[in-house]
Amino acid sequence: MKTPFIFGKLALFSNFTDREEEQKRLVSNFVSGVNTMLISPRRWGKSSLVKKVADVVQQDNKKIKICFIDVFDVRSEEEFYQVIANEVMRVTSSKLEEIGNMAQKYMGKILPKISFSPDNMQEVTLGFDWDELKKQASEILDLPEKIAQEKGFELIICIDEFQNIADFAEPLALQKKLRSHWQKHQKVSYCLYGSKRHMMMDVFTSPSMPFYKFGDMMFLEKIAEENWVAFIQKQFSQTKKKINKKESRLIAQLVENHPYYVQQLAQLSWLRTKSTCKMSAVLEAYDTLVLQLSLLFHNITDSLSNMQVNFLKALIKGESKLSSKVVLDKYNLGSSANISQLKKALANREIIDIVGQEINFTDPIYKEWLKRYYFKIKQD
Ligand SMILES: Nc1ncnc2c1ncn2[C@@H]1O[C@H](COP(=O)(O)OP(=O)(O)O)[C@@H](O)[C@H]1O
Ligand SMILES: [Mg+2]
Repeated sequence: MKTPFIFGKLALFSNFTDREEEQKRLVSNFVSGVNTMLISPRRWGKSSLVKKVADVVQQDNKKIKICFIDVFDVRSEEEFYQVIANEVMRVTSSKLEEIGNMAQKYMGKILPKISFSPDNMQEVTLGFDWDELKKQASEILDLPEKIAQEKGFELIICIDEFQNIADFAEPLALQKKLRSHWQKHQKVSYCLYGSKRHMMMDVFTSPSMPFYKFGDMMFLEKIAEENWVAFIQKQFSQTKKKINKKESRLIAQLVENHPYYVQQLAQLSWLRTKSTCKMSAVLEAYDTLVLQLSLLFHNITDSLSNMQVNFLKALIKGESKLSSKVVLDKYNLGSSANISQLKKALANREIIDIVGQEINFTDPIYKEWLKRYYFKIKQD
């Protein structure tokens, strides 16, 4: 039987829940050509939300075309231009032959090699000369606007995992270049989304940074407990199984409403259920989940410095005055000047998420694993 829960893939259709306000706001931005920056830790639902909204907008507005660009495995500026050019061409040309003509017309100077995927002739890739590509960056960056103008539609370019451009060779110069082109575009708007709150905030909210005030900035929250309770019950009942409120709530609570983990734990609980989900099934599923990830968590922990590990311990113990002499001594954290370095490094590794004065673990299961199996802290 197909399971009614999904994780590690985009949540769409009946798997997508909540986010009513965020959907409205994003739809409105898309339709009116407002740039959006969307930020949240990994696996909270950014990609799912953007895809869902894109589907709605495309349904209702035939004049709007939407491109998806994922910079997750893009390693350099040149590669970034290449994926933009490819995706824009793919989305804006209806016929295959057209791509060749368009490439010639809009990118004459850097005429790309056009190749077709062997197993799918509908898939076209444009290959570029890398040196030429960088020299002609402006041409590529204005390509979407030129095409949209000429073909008379609006284009929305969604760039996922945008935080990754910080790892390119000259991130600041690139950001300046992008901003200077993108802000002149009339028919093209941009939706830039990614994790690493710290880095994204720096890029978008520092007055000295090129992307300052580029558009509407949205922080995606987790999905509320009440919503999960109803969602889990609904998904169970669709497969003729049952879960009561209490157990449903426990699932959400154990993983602190983390969207990916709620779905995963719900699935593990569902698999352990014949007709009505028992409390013991949820708890068992949870223990299994923590152990399943053990190897991964060992590797993460091994890659941290002693002080970083000590810092995580202090967090788990609920210490709030992290820079105080008592805490610094107790956990061997060095000097108080160290603390901001530690925070920055751990936020950059996406192990913690810093929201104002609050520091949270991005992965609630990692926190539990550290507590149980690494620091062996007794549960209270
Ligand atoms: N609106 C939603 N409704 C239900 N589940 C969701 C929703 N958003 C996210 N999820 C769950 O979280 C997982 C990660 O979502 P994703 O959109 O990939 O997050 P992100 O892009 O922020 O990393 C999904 O696979 C799904 O299990
Ligand atoms: Mg994503």
